[in-house]
Amino acid sequence: MFEDFYAQLEKLGIVPVVVLEKVEDAVPMAHALMRAGMASAEVTFRTACAAECIAAMRNAEPSMCVGAGTVLTCEQVDQAREAGAQFIVSPGYSNEVVEHCIELGLPVLPGCVTPSDITSAIEHGLHVTKFFPAAQYGGLATIKALAAPFVGHRFMPTGGVNTANVREYLSCPAIAACGGTWMVKPALFVDGDFSRVEDEARKAMEVVRDIRG
Ligand code: 3PG
Repeated sequence: MFEDFYAQLEKLGIVPVVVLEKVEDAVPMAHALMRAGMASAEVTFRTACAAECIAAMRNAEPSMCVGAGTVLTCEQVDQAREAGAQFIVSPGYSNEVVEHCIELGLPVLPGCVTPSDITSAIEHGLHVTKFFPAAQYGGLATIKALAAPFVGHRFMPTGGVNTANVREYLSCPAIAACGGTWMVKPALFVDGDFSRVEDEARKAMEVVRDIRG
């Protein structure tokens, strides 16, 4: 289950975690990320316009892999799916959300930081989970310790991943992709100019290419 998505995640390497306050920012954001070769976005349901932004991004950049983040309820899964979201990310582990996504055939990356969380995910047939907040839960050292017993399970760390440590994270075979906001911080496009987003995203993708070819 979800093997195609996991392969895509591996190729993407980095998934930007996008928090958009205005739907008008969605299309220029999508274009800037695509120009930089960063062909995905996790649009978080922390803002009211998230579903509208997902729909706008999918429409503007049909080859981009656009998902929904900060998804806490089955209702949000439905909203995200209707908007065209291709994957779901949750900060924590919810059986309801995971089972709903599986029923819909929608790839889901629940947040798992403990052996028990990971066991629940594996029992549901999931082989990649989000590790959030990565820095506070011990970062790479914890991921490596968890990867030892959960052979074959992989992680998408987010929370404290940035230009200074993304290379080290991506070098670990237990990491499918990294997530983060560093290339899409609101301060980078507050004036409506997305060239700084593009520059930061391009630099991040150079790291992915260096490590994964
Ligand atoms: C997330 O939602 O995954 C995190 O807020 C991203 O964390 P960062 O801002 O430290 O990259």
